[in-house]
Amino acid sequence: MTSSLSPVTETVTLVPDANWWRQATFYQIYPRSFADANGDGIGDLRGIITRVPYLRQLGVDAVWLSPFYPSALADGGYDVDDYRDVDPRIGTLAEFDEMVTALHEAGIRIMVDIVPNHSSDRHVWFQEALAAPAGSPARERYIFRDGAGADGELPPTDWQSIFGGPAWTRVPDGQWYLHLFAKEQPDFNWDNDEVRADFRTTLRFWSDRGVDGFRVDAAHGLVKDLTEPLPSAAQMSATNVPGRNRLFDRDEVHDIYADWRRVFDQYTPPRIAVAEAWTDTAERRARYASPEGLGQAFNFDLLQAGFDAVQFRRIITENLALAAASGSSTTWVLSNHDVVRHPTRYGLIAGSAPGEAAEAAEAVDTAIMQVGGREWLLAGGPEDQLDRARGIRRARAATLLELALPGSAYLYQGEELGLHEVSEIPDDARQDPAFFRNKGVEVGRDGCRVPLPWTRGGSSFGFGDAGAHLPQPAWFADVSVEAEEADPDSTLSLYRAALRLRRELESEESLEWIETGRDDVLHFRRPNGWESITNFGTAPAPLPAGRVVLASAPGVRDLRGELPGETTVWLTPEG
Ligand code: BGC
Repeated sequence: MTSSLSPVTETVTLVPDANWWRQATFYQIYPRSFADANGDGIGDLRGIITRVPYLRQLGVDAVWLSPFYPSALADGGYDVDDYRDVDPRIGTLAEFDEMVTALHEAGIRIMVDIVPNHSSDRHVWFQEALAAPAGSPARERYIFRDGAGADGELPPTDWQSIFGGPAWTRVPDGQWYLHLFAKEQPDFNWDNDEVRADFRTTLRFWSDRGVDGFRVDAAHGLVKDLTEPLPSAAQMSATNVPGRNRLFDRDEVHDIYADWRRVFDQYTPPRIAVAEAWTDTAERRARYASPEGLGQAFNFDLLQAGFDAVQFRRIITENLALAAASGSSTTWVLSNHDVVRHPTRYGLIAGSAPGEAAEAAEAVDTAIMQVGGREWLLAGGPEDQLDRARGIRRARAATLLELALPGSAYLYQGEELGLHEVSEIPDDARQDPAFFRNKGVEVGRDGCRVPLPWTRGGSSFGFGDAGAHLPQPAWFADVSVEAEEADPDSTLSLYRAALRLRRELESEESLEWIETGRDDVLHFRRPNGWESITNFGTAPAPLPAGRVVLASAPGVRDLRGELPGETTVWLTPEG
């Protein structure tokens, strides 16, 4: 990392460094829920600009900005109307430039979300496609087909969209279009040269504005094999061969990313990218991280694991090996805008591993949320089924472990406050299409997207002057930035200390496991002598020799040679 944490007013000059991302800490901003400067209840770019000092003090290396493009918000902005503009409710292009400058001057780089699998149904191309006849070039940019049945009244296949409901929607002239997500998100046809050329233009547009990289949404979905006859959903899953699935993770998708790489490499330093790619195997995911392609890929394995030492060790070992083989660095994620926040996952009394989802949901009357075909527990049940304190304690331990690992760490806004998932959202306030398309059976992802609490009180806890677009619970007061800044034991104080030390202790990209003799205690050392030890169990464990530089458990002052349960400690060599 080439910038160091300096007083918040001093301007930093970012040194061009082609490897800046390899062990960087990224902070995901979900812009509509971060900070609202113009008082319309929706977060905006000006709000981000005003919080740059906060981000700098937190100590992150880069921001990943979720979609900020014009959008009807059918899917929280992942339904893009125009890839080369800013939603007027969020700001202007001039404010975007101002934000990039402010971040860069604070030593923080910026990555934007790019959504290539689908546009919104309001995109000018989709509107043209609707106005044009079947078989026209305008329709060729999307995936239109005639229906089945005598009069084409049935969808071409029985495929289900990822948010539930059919993956095909009929247009007035009788044809159907494919949408793997909501019906407002028609899938592009990536066999179409105009689509390919237009995305290259978009990548250049933002790169020319100083954007340092791209997070590539649903990167595994772009290329599809739609040769007739189209199989049924059951046939597809029965005959699934990694790399030959009709809809996902086809080998040919990497030609697109090789093409993008040529664009990225025209800049100094080269623009970076990270793929959101759900694949059958970790090996196939690593292909997206090739230096000839996007360069990095999200590894969501920790985010899907329980608070469990055996799972953590296996996942860490496997992903470090894959990263080394692909020439990339790996990525660690515990929370993002699509999943239940990790303190809540870890605090559910009945269990937190996805494999335990059904059982736990039954036991605690929670809902199960499915995103991308995966199950997530969502706390929607009685408060007494969630052990909040334990969830935070475990989350702090997991985060400290994560931040000691080689590779980049992707943090999600609000996790530095130890926020729990918000379960108190009335049905009529929900926004996530996953909720509506499943008729409320799945509660969806709104609970992790509630606007951040900045102050103990006031209108929307300091988010803005006009309330928040999703209701904030009363308990936000005690986990607001204002409350936590005043408390040296708060989760915010822990993240700040951890991120400062992470920069100071930066080490080569590897680790060595140190055997502890206990299945529930993980201990590793980085090449420069920095050690991290985590007790996943509840019984205390012996603390190895070394200087304790940070402990995850609040209020720990003197460890007396003992590592308490559900705690991580960082050590450096004595002397
Ligand atoms: C994003 C989701 C979004 C979906 C469709 C996902 O990968 O992270 O938030 O709903 O893609 O764009």
